[in-house]
Amino acid sequence: MITIAVIGLGNRGSGYMRWTRLLNNRNAKITALCDSDEYRLNTYGDKYRVDKNNRYLNEEDFFKAGRLADAIYICTMDNDHYRHAIAAIECGYHIMLEKPVSTDISECEEIRDRAKEKGLHVVVCHVMRYSPFFKKMNQLVKSGKYGKIVSIEHTENIGYFHFAHSYVRGNWRDSEKTTPMLMAKCCHDFDLIHWLMGDGCRSVSSYGSLSYFKNENAPKDSGKICLDCPKQVREKCPYDAEKLYITAPIWRFTFLKFLGNVITGKPIYNRQDKYDSLRNGLFGRCVYKCDNNACDHQVVTMDYGDDRYVNLNVTAFSRLNYRRTSIHMEKADILCDESKGRFIINRFGKCKKTVYAGVIHFVHISGDIAIVKNFIKLLSGKPIKTDDLTFIDTTIVSHRNVMLAEQSRKEGGKLIYL
Ligand SMILES: NC(=O)c1ccc[n+]([C@@H]2O[C@H](COP(=O)([O-])OP(=O)(O)OC[C@H]3O[C@@H](n4cnc5c(N)ncnc54)[C@H](O)[C@@H]3O)[C@@H](O)[C@H]2O)c1
Repeated sequence: MITIAVIGLGNRGSGYMRWTRLLNNRNAKITALCDSDEYRLNTYGDKYRVDKNNRYLNEEDFFKAGRLADAIYICTMDNDHYRHAIAAIECGYHIMLEKPVSTDISECEEIRDRAKEKGLHVVVCHVMRYSPFFKKMNQLVKSGKYGKIVSIEHTENIGYFHFAHSYVRGNWRDSEKTTPMLMAKCCHDFDLIHWLMGDGCRSVSSYGSLSYFKNENAPKDSGKICLDCPKQVREKCPYDAEKLYITAPIWRFTFLKFLGNVITGKPIYNRQDKYDSLRNGLFGRCVYKCDNNACDHQVVTMDYGDDRYVNLNVTAFSRLNYRRTSIHMEKADILCDESKGRFIINRFGKCKKTVYAGVIHFVHISGDIAIVKNFIKLLSGKPIKTDDLTFIDTTIVSHRNVMLAEQSRKEGGKLIYL
């Protein structure tokens, strides 16, 4: 039986615990928990039947207790990952570490080196790679049928509602205190690009800014919180928090309705808790009157050497939340649309296009399930394929590209050589 400790029982930590129990009931068990929120700690402690002596409210006591399980899921916030990873390595845990590892490359390298010294695995949660959709994309590119990649045009459509939730009202609104939007959102995209293109990125440049979610764009007469905003303003506002978090019909696909645990901070909540949190918390605030500074759109150009280029475009300004990638190869172009789970392959000189449709594209859920499954497999000593998990060495390469792109943006698009 593989035993798992978890630190950070929020949105991500609770999801991984759920999949651990559902998928690996017979060979893995959650045996120790740490979260600074007592209600969450005890709710999940009871749910997963974790011994009361193995529930910790404070990280110092948790790590001081030594190794309480074979492995640890580190699912705290971005700026805690380095500290928690180093402490976990000292205890001797194998680690499944939420992204980003750190925004400082030397901290990433230190985690890698210290883990290596102790013979411990550090797997980073680049969950996109393990989803059937992106696996198919990688398989098509590497099939050898279409020649080499000449260029990639990749767009991360964050979705207006998702952007407002995470980068205007929520956790990643202040890039100085957490991580820049490019790292928080696009470290997955950089990882996918690295997967397709290999190691050779030679230079990057980037432009980006916060253009829209600012006071000057607030509608006339709008309130500071949506619940107090005049009806005629709210009716026209796509960011009305009551609509997004409580009353929106499911067919609008704005999934924020299902984030009651995030906005209330409670694993178990009711409708009134949601209203209370919109009145008193972060997520009911007018999107034009928040304390945000995260870029709402950014572009990055990368030279991968050998005349191969990548252009990445990340934007708040899209109706849906999905990735769209055009891969231009020597003998065909491949159009990948995550929102439809569809690939269209146009081979040059042939009229007929090849279409693969319906490739499962619930990327997050399928990716989350796969990483948990493969991590437990790894710990159980079962063989895994090289593409089944992303280890920290691989992440360091793509994280470095993100960091340099962000540096370029701050320096007005300056070309930065690796
Ligand atoms: N892999 C992905 O695709 C993906 C997606 C979303 C978020 N993330 C990353 O996952 C991480 C967690 O995000 P989340 O949305 O679950 O956040 P969250 O705010 O929902 O959860 C964080 C949890 O950590 C707890 N916590 C905070 N400080 C702590 C401390 N010092 N000791 C113990 N517990 C502490 C909080 O009480 C909370 O329960 C972030 O770094 C985020 O960037 C990854």
